[in-house]
Amino acid sequence: MAKLLVTGGSGFIGSNFIRYWQARHAQDELVNLDLLTYAASGDDAPSNGARSKLRLIKGDIADPATVRRAMKGVKAVVHFAAETHVDRSIQNSQIFLKTNVLGTHTLLEAARQNGIQKFVYISTDEVYGSIEKGSFTEYSQLRPNSPYAASKASGDLICRSYWVTHNLPVMVTRCCNNYGPYQFPEKVIPLFITNLIEGKKVPLYGDGMNVREWIHALDHARAIERVMEAGEPGEIYNIGTGQEIPNVELAGKILKALGKGGESIERVKDRPGHDFRYSLDSSKLKKLGWSPEIEFEKGLKDTIGWYRTHESWWKKIKGKGAFKTYIKKQYAGRAR
Ligand code: NAD
Ligand code: DAU
Repeated sequence: MAKLLVTGGSGFIGSNFIRYWQARHAQDELVNLDLLTYAASGDDAPSNGARSKLRLIKGDIADPATVRRAMKGVKAVVHFAAETHVDRSIQNSQIFLKTNVLGTHTLLEAARQNGIQKFVYISTDEVYGSIEKGSFTEYSQLRPNSPYAASKASGDLICRSYWVTHNLPVMVTRCCNNYGPYQFPEKVIPLFITNLIEGKKVPLYGDGMNVREWIHALDHARAIERVMEAGEPGEIYNIGTGQEIPNVELAGKILKALGKGGESIERVKDRPGHDFRYSLDSSKLKKLGWSPEIEFEKGLKDTIGWYRTHESWWKKIKGKGAFKTYIKKQYAGRAR
């Protein structure tokens, strides 16, 4: 039996990870340290017996006292908590630096003082920047382009320094774009699905030719589990699927699944500094025995089905004043 600290466990990927971990490691105790920001959309209501081994601490990863309390008796840390939306980081990046850089540092420092045996930092493919052809390996240069990506890269590098300088057993994962249930409807897939269900248009940035590599959040959870079981301290692992698709094609698939046509696309001004393409070489992790199991067409179909059957969940989020204000600020007057 082990005690695991998960940060950001009430967010999209963190909550999917917790559900996966509970199903596979029912004996483990889990502490979820989450500030419950606007993005804490994951369902953390108890749903089975194993859930009683899950404790939520509402608090900030950048607060040393809270972090010390959350880390008591903990053996391993999986650190998801972050500000995660690129467009919000373009509007205002201060909180990104506080949470993603100082918060990560606070956790590392507490982990060092508490003799943590495994610290997994959930980084992102965005730290590499954009690539026209080929794929990034773990040795590629870091060239982050958005304030969000730069803050994640900073956290990633501080992790490295704690391994090299303090011998803290840190492992870093850099994953591609996730999709699946409980993703906050500001991100492209849930925004497009829910807009179409509501009879609205979908805002496609620029020429729609930007390419993203997609992974289901459950395949991501499996990859993190593999890294925790077989990864080497100090190492970095890319997590990608090779399932790359330009945004306009992605929009086309979602439109088709929901019985809509091209007239439901609204072309809007491009995102400033918009990365053209992300692509990861994940052979290092594959050598540890991981490979993705959820094929994109099937995963997307299931995800669309999930949003169809969970309207009350996302309508509550989209109905909030703060969400409406964000959408207005982000999209108003941007039609091309
Ligand atoms: P999310 O925005 O859905 O959830 C983030 C969670 O962190 C929320 O529950 C929020 O309340 C919590 N949080 C924010 N600030 C906090 C703070 N100061 N203290 C404690 N908790 C705080 O994010 P996500 O999409 O689930 O991403 C999780 C992690 O995975 C992030 O580190 C992100 O950079 C990384 N990642 C995401 C993707 C993706 O496609 N979404 C891909 C690769 C890596
Ligand atoms: O690659 C991993 C990253 O993926 C994570 O580190 C981030 O936390 C996560 O938010 C995600 O970043 P992206 O910027 O790639 O995701 P987003 O859903 O915001 O956008 C995906 C693509 O869709 C991108 O090319 C921009 C485009 N887009 C997005 C929105 C919100 C649109 O065309 N219209 C939109 O309204």
